[in-house]
Amino acid sequence: MLRAPVRHPRGRRAGRCGRAGLRGLFPAQGSCYGSAFTVGTAAGRGIMGTQAINLRSKFGQITQLWSPRVIAQLNDYQFKLVRLQGEFIWHDHPDTDEAFLVLEGCLRIDLDGGESVELGAGELYVVPKGRRHRPSALEEAKVLLIEPNGVLNTGREGGPRTVQNDQWI
Ligand code: NI
Repeated sequence: MLRAPVRHPRGRRAGRCGRAGLRGLFPAQGSCYGSAFTVGTAAGRGIMGTQAINLRSKFGQITQLWSPRVIAQLNDYQFKLVRLQGEFIWHDHPDTDEAFLVLEGCLRIDLDGGESVELGAGELYVVPKGRRHRPSALEEAKVLLIEPNGVLNTGREGGPRTVQNDQWI
């Protein structure tokens, strides 16, 4: 007998947005080869050095919600970590796409035109250039953003939710 899948009240598949995160993406610092290989010096801004960038460790340095922090740069693109909870504002980025990779929790991105996408841990979505969007998370989500250097979190919307960009940790 066929059974309909259990659905979250808002249409989300049950179990998709667990809080465990991706264990492979969130190892403890130096967990692969033991502490003998852990280097104590931090990688310099924009310079990789020889130390792996540990996402769990970096998230531990972020105390504010909705305030992206840069952890690495690839040519003109930056990798930013951000902790999200609650609802952000509608905005767009007229000059660039914006990638969201959910590492832990569940993220909803409302899009103009009444569409939305829900992402669980391990899921990626790229908001197209110029499309208005509004991220939100019922419970805290940990997200990796990939976007060009200089992109503001509120796009061209501005306002009190805007934070300084290019803040490295
Ligand atoms: Ni955005």
